[in-house]
Amino acid sequence: MKVAVLTGGGDCPGLNAVIRAIVRRTMGKYGGEVVGFRYGWAGVIENNQMPLGLAEVSGILPRGGTILGTSRTNPYRVDGGFEAIKKTLKDEKLDGLIVVGGEDTLGVAYKLYREGLPIVGVPKTIDNDINGTDFTFGFDTAVHIATEAIDRLHTTAESHNRVVVVEVMGRHTGWIAVKAGIAGGADLILIPEIPFELDDVCSIIKKRHGRGKNFSIVVVAEGAKLPAAEHEEDKAKGELVLQQGSTDAFGHVRLGGIGNELARIIEEGTGFETRVTVLGYTQRGGTPTAFDRVLGTRFGVVAADLVHAREFGKMVSLHGDKVIPIEMSHAIERLKLVDTELYEVAQTFFG
Ligand code: F6P
Repeated sequence: MKVAVLTGGGDCPGLNAVIRAIVRRTMGKYGGEVVGFRYGWAGVIENNQMPLGLAEVSGILPRGGTILGTSRTNPYRVDGGFEAIKKTLKDEKLDGLIVVGGEDTLGVAYKLYREGLPIVGVPKTIDNDINGTDFTFGFDTAVHIATEAIDRLHTTAESHNRVVVVEVMGRHTGWIAVKAGIAGGADLILIPEIPFELDDVCSIIKKRHGRGKNFSIVVVAEGAKLPAAEHEEDKAKGELVLQQGSTDAFGHVRLGGIGNELARIIEEGTGFETRVTVLGYTQRGGTPTAFDRVLGTRFGVVAADLVHAREFGKMVSLHGDKVIPIEMSHAIERLKLVDTELYEVAQTFFG
């Protein structure tokens, strides 16, 4: 059996664990061969590949990033992209292609599967917002990094009597913000799923300082929507804060900057000195936690088994403590939003 693998979209701690597991399972259990396409879908379109054998995957388990490279190439936006992918798979006599990606990469994978290509999916994102799986690898690492940052920001905020706004990743959902915020003892957490009023933000902080506290930590997800003062009647909708207006090949804007905006508003609204820290790509880089290494490894092993069983159109997923195959369509049905119950736990500690 000949299997190929690609990693697409933003990189994520644990990708190399998946690649290593696919290679070890395919070679060890099925006597098969594995190749890797470089830079996501771009590598399949251009047939830019590398062999993946024991030597190539040796020592990569603790490494961040992806040894294959990644990109946000959307084959449906490339002239002749679909035909080129079909040709590469045929020329290389591939029995199956394992696609490791988030909602965009898996969306393309599902479309290609529907067009008859032998594809298996592995869900990936630090944002943890893919439907159909309890967790994606990379999320645990991101939460650890953000929690450690919040711990560190606590001591400097306290020493200077400041409010510190911590901006974390989370394009559509606030999973990192809520989990790291609870773990780090945040005094307020703002996420895309829950609209908020700026007056409430300021009064929560004033209330806290009114009971003798002289510092606060506010965690905000980059995709949280700032209430738009100029659209009074439509406040619940809010506005995304963008770094730039252009979009990527999947139509996503580049987010970032809500932390700065909030810090300015909080300082003006409360009179407390306020600073901002944007964690950005530190949440995605570097070595994966043990949890993410194990989850990535388990996903890779089951994905290789699915190709061997010719169970195409499936995606691996975590349900409780079991890794099980589900239909890949689940990944693109909708986003997995933060549970209200979890946010209520976080709210207990606001102010
Ligand atoms: O999907 C994960 C994510 O980290 C988002 O939270 C973020 O908006 C996005 O990737 C940014 O990635 P890039 O700058 O690489 O496009």
